[in-house]
Amino acid sequence: MSFPVHRGRRLRRTAGLRALVQETRLAPAQLVAPLFVCDGLDVREPIASMPGHARLSPDQAAAEAAALGALGVGAVLLFGIPAAKDDCGTAAWHTDGPVPDAIRRIKRDVPSLPVWADVCLCEYTDHGHCGVLDESGVDNDATLPLLARAAVAYAQAGADAVAPSDMMDGRVAAMRAALDGAGHAQTIIVSYAVKYASAFYGPFRDAAGSVPRAGDRRGYQMDPANVREALREAVADVEEGADLVIVKPGLPYLDVIRAVRERVDVPVVAYQVSGEFAMLHAAADRGWIDLPRAMAETCLALRRAGADLVITYFARDLARALAGEGPAGAHAEARR
Ligand code: PBG
Repeated sequence: MSFPVHRGRRLRRTAGLRALVQETRLAPAQLVAPLFVCDGLDVREPIASMPGHARLSPDQAAAEAAALGALGVGAVLLFGIPAAKDDCGTAAWHTDGPVPDAIRRIKRDVPSLPVWADVCLCEYTDHGHCGVLDESGVDNDATLPLLARAAVAYAQAGADAVAPSDMMDGRVAAMRAALDGAGHAQTIIVSYAVKYASAFYGPFRDAAGSVPRAGDRRGYQMDPANVREALREAVADVEEGADLVIVKPGLPYLDVIRAVRERVDVPVVAYQVSGEFAMLHAAADRGWIDLPRAMAETCLALRRAGADLVITYFARDLARALAGEGPAGAHAEARR
């Protein structure tokens, strides 16, 4: 059927009609908010490259989580910034570290809000790599028990989910076994199954102080050129016991999100990373793009590509926009 019988504009005529035929919806419950947690009390140290974000002490992280929970955000994802680092990243499993402390406080103050804890050693090692080093680089198998130990520490503190972001082979199976062995059979594993060696992690590494002292992460994170490899990684992690899988970064990898969505049945999560966030802010600061529209459009695009959930530093602003007026939220109530 073609023009003049078919007129595409008929369904675009009013806001109500457009809301009626919208194929993809975005709701606060589909957003996951990352938080950076450091030691101390009453600390809010702004992160220059990530406007609106700060390194938060556990009490402040709990206050932020309460605000996010009130906005209907789906979950928080905690990253730790320890006071001291060493070659094995031992602070990753200290039970009194900033992440376990924040988990306990959030579960006490906002019990209904799911708490995810990122599991990686790069924030905790003095060399900045995601595992322990041997002569040739990161020693995969020697790293596994350390990651498992950190996962158990976060589960013990009350985390609903642990999210391994290290890209070691076999870490999901190692964590599942360790969690089950420690009585945490209900702890969810959200695996960063498909994590590319990306230029878009710059602001995060700045925030977490996790720039590798030497070398790069290409020996364990994926080559941006590859998509079949992403499917192997996703399938392997699901077979090892991953309950959800993450594709990261987000916008440059929409085709990967779609391909993973079609291959596995577990929920797929897209991570709109720090560089994507910073880039939109930088352009908006110059008056080149409209930030509220751009944040809604990019997160919607990740959902349209096939992501069930989106981890985004815009979670708070976007949840607020979806609840209120403006193009992103004109029919937010009805759409939910
Ligand atoms: C830690 C980790 C990183 C990110 C999440 N977990 C950084 C990295 O691999 O260097 C990136 C998040 C972001 O850029 O927003 N392994």
